[in-house]
Amino acid sequence: MTVPAPRLGRLSLGLHWSVGTGVLGLIAFGFWLRTVPGGQDKTALVQIHKSVGVLVLMAALARVAWRMREGFPAPAGPHAAWERRGAIALHVFLIAATLLMPLSGILRSRAYARPVSVFGLPLIPKLFEAKHETLYAIASNLHDGLALALSAALALHVAAALKHHWIDRDATLTRILGLARRTGQ
Ligand code: HEM
Ligand code: HEM
Repeated sequence: MTVPAPRLGRLSLGLHWSVGTGVLGLIAFGFWLRTVPGGQDKTALVQIHKSVGVLVLMAALARVAWRMREGFPAPAGPHAAWERRGAIALHVFLIAATLLMPLSGILRSRAYARPVSVFGLPLIPKLFEAKHETLYAIASNLHDGLALALSAALALHVAAALKHHWIDRDATLTRILGLARRTGQ
């Protein structure tokens, strides 16, 4: 007998896609920023990156609170135990990275003796009067290194979603897209 996969609630979907699109956009924007020469235009672009990053941090915190309350969703198919364990480990890493990316970015800015504001609204005051070289190096390496690790993890995440859809033919991908149930289990 086939049992329909449990649906994901609106809040789970809303948090997945608000954090998800924010993170994907910030990764692409952040790597593109590297290619922009320094100057006032770049400073303005970095401000946009920082503002969106802080907003993503707020959504990511809401998501952590939601996951702590609800746990992870039950699998959408009869997944093997290793697959289930792997999925949880990857999801925990993705959630941790969505917190550590903006936190390391905030630390990076503060070590550069800059305050953090969200679209002009001052939110976090500056920490130092002058750039703190050691802290800046640590925070920058963390931010850049995590960006690479997160990109690799996301490639795996999307590949796993496609494997569930095309090979296992279960509802894992359709339910995160908020589409109709697929019951092939
Ligand atoms: C094209 C982009 C993406 C696709 C197709 C996708 C697909 C999926 C799928 C199929 C699930 C499994 C839901 C289930 O358990 O049935 C999932 C869950 C999850 N995804 Fe994604 N995802 C994408 C982007 C992202 C991004 C950018 C992040 C975070 C940086 C992310 C983080 C998570 C996490 C933490 C979960 C566990 C459940 C939750 O907390 O919502 N995903 N995703
Ligand atoms: C989920 C949130 C975030 C993601 C995914 C993200 C991603 C990235 C990426 C991919 C880069 C380029 C890394 C490289 O050059 O190797 C970058 C650079 C940077 N990020 Fe973020 N970031 C996030 C949040 C933040 C926040 C909240 C701040 C500060 C408040 C911040 C500040 C910076 C700064 C200052 C740079 C360097 C820009 C430059 O001068 O080229 N980021 N970020």
